Amino acid sequence: MSGPKICFVIGGPGSGKGTQCEMLVQKFGVAHFSSGDLLRAEVASGSERGQNLSATMAEGKLVSMDVVIQLLREAVDKSFAEHPDKIILLDGFPREIEQATKFEEKICAATYVLSFECSQEEMTKRLLSRALTSGRVDDNIETIKKRLVTFETATAPVLEHYKAAGRLVNVSAEADKQTIFDNTCKGLGLC
Ligand code: AP5
Repeated sequence: MSGPKICFVIGGPGSGKGTQCEMLVQKFGVAHFSSGDLLRAEVASGSERGQNLSATMAEGKLVSMDVVIQLLREAVDKSFAEHPDKIILLDGFPREIEQATKFEEKICAATYVLSFECSQEEMTKRLLSRALTSGRVDDNIETIKKRLVTFETATAPVLEHYKAAGRLVNVSAEADKQTIFDNTCKGLGLC
């Protein structure tokens, strides 16, 4: 039997990764795991593994790659065991070259690499608006600035890597949600 069909979903903070993943779940019944949500759940669980994560996330920095990959591996294994045919969206992963190479070498290659492209101004506007209700420790202007820097320094090279390999599906994320969704489906060959 072949392995899981993985889709990496990459984009800056507030580019709309989570929103578009949920729309893909609704329309196609795919599985969706957000690295940020898995990390926040780990913090909330009070586990030893979660103890150091919160401070790093509040700083807008990347947490330990080993923790992220372990959490995703557990989620992917469970999903694949229960629903082997489902495409699995990994939202917010990989965020640095080493994450990409380690995952593809040790777990499995990604079938799709999806990127949402959005200006810093638009992402900042969306996150500040969400900050009014999200309660997230990183939805404030100081941390948003740091998250944007982390994206430009650590994650932009991941996009270059997959673009050079001809594997990147790049979608403009500055439009209404439905237009972005339609372009995403086209880009992935789902419609
Ligand atoms: P994570 O939780 O992944 O946060 P993020 O990547 O910064 O992005 P968000 O989830 O906040 O935004 P999004 O792109 O999903 O946008 P959304 O759809 O929510 O990560 C948090 C932290 O965890 C990281 O900083 C890091 O510390 C750690 N971490 C996570 N993954 C890691 C990894 N792999 N390695 C190491 N550390 C990791 O939309 C945002 C808002 O915009 C919403 O209000 C939405 O309604 C609105 N919106 C969406 N689309 C549109 C649109 N088209 N028009 C107008 N508004 C829109």
